[in-house]
Amino acid sequence: MVPNRFREDFAPLRKENPVCYLDNACTTLRPDSVIEAVSSYYTETPGCGGRSPHRWGYAVTLMMAQARQAVADFISAPRDELVFTLNSTAAINQVAHGINWKPGDVVITSDKEHNSNFVPWLQLENEGVVEVQQVSSNEDNTFDLQAFENACAQVGDNLRLVAIPFTSNLDGVTNPVAEITKIAHDFGAEVLLDSAQAIPHNKVNVKDLGCDYLAFSLHKMLGPSGVGALFATEESMANLETLSGGGTTIVSASKDNLEFLPGPARLEGGSSNYAGIAGAKAAVDYLSNVDFEWLSDHEIRLNQIITDGVKDLDEITIIGPSKASVRGGMTAMLIDGIDVHDLAIILDEAGSIMVRSGFHCVNHWFESKGLAGGSLRTSAYLYNTEEEARQFVDVFSEAISALG
Ligand code: ALA
Repeated sequence: MVPNRFREDFAPLRKENPVCYLDNACTTLRPDSVIEAVSSYYTETPGCGGRSPHRWGYAVTLMMAQARQAVADFISAPRDELVFTLNSTAAINQVAHGINWKPGDVVITSDKEHNSNFVPWLQLENEGVVEVQQVSSNEDNTFDLQAFENACAQVGDNLRLVAIPFTSNLDGVTNPVAEITKIAHDFGAEVLLDSAQAIPHNKVNVKDLGCDYLAFSLHKMLGPSGVGALFATEESMANLETLSGGGTTIVSASKDNLEFLPGPARLEGGSSNYAGIAGAKAAVDYLSNVDFEWLSDHEIRLNQIITDGVKDLDEITIIGPSKASVRGGMTAMLIDGIDVHDLAIILDEAGSIMVRSGFHCVNHWFESKGLAGGSLRTSAYLYNTEEEARQFVDVFSEAISALG
């Protein structure tokens, strides 16, 4: 399995002088099959699912069921435990605002949460609904399991939910989520895994993990924008309030009797992003043919080239562990004396290299450390090549010496 095989499937990479796209943690490129699936909804069957009996309505109802099955299969979940959402943020908000909280409930998160797994809990805390506690990471930014267990023990019976990133979008570190889940369950809490950065890169099996909720976004795994998913176990899903009541959600609605459907339909009010969901199925079909062991090795190989190429530059400090293998395909760097946005623009203009710069929606982590400048982050995926990793190192090193 080689990146060149994949590159042929992506229109931006077939161009004569393709960009070097290393911003995959933000969003990935989409293969032709995904674009065709989205387009085919509009050209072939532009109807509504679950409503009209005509052939387009039937085709969309069938497509929705097949897409739900495919995305659920991809994480080894039952089909009825998979809710389509707008993105990971919407999935996490469904949990945050759907749980029937009790006075005194505590939510434990980490100290490097993406805003999507931080802001909803802060909102609840500001409304006096829950208390939020953040567990500090180890010195090298890896998860401190002992500190986590101590925090759980200290909170005791009030611990209601542990909401933790599976893989961090700040530094690429994957957390020991199976152990975290076991500890949280031992303390009687539910577990939500923000898996936006994990599912595109690892084979995830929710049943093995034992988590109660898991959120992810399709656009980070070759799918269309505007489609995410929430896995919730049957029991946890049954306890979530319907936030968007309306069409699709009910068995009966009258002034005397309001009765909701069971399962995902209750949490998917209104008509859906049918085109996006058709594209989501095409994305997981595409990824189902990728060898994830190869993918992990490939991303680390590229990350090793980037890490080796930048680590000795005086201006650079890599965020998180120094070993590339612990950071998957991601390298985020603090850069002394140079504006990271200027640098990102130079990389694009001088080398057609696309990376992300700034706070990566983890503003609180940078603020807590007094790092006002943010960082510059590379993130690789299946279509990137070793040549691109070397190209990044060359252009980046030249830019640093020109600006430094
Ligand atoms: N969470 C996305 C990122 O890290 C947007 O770039």
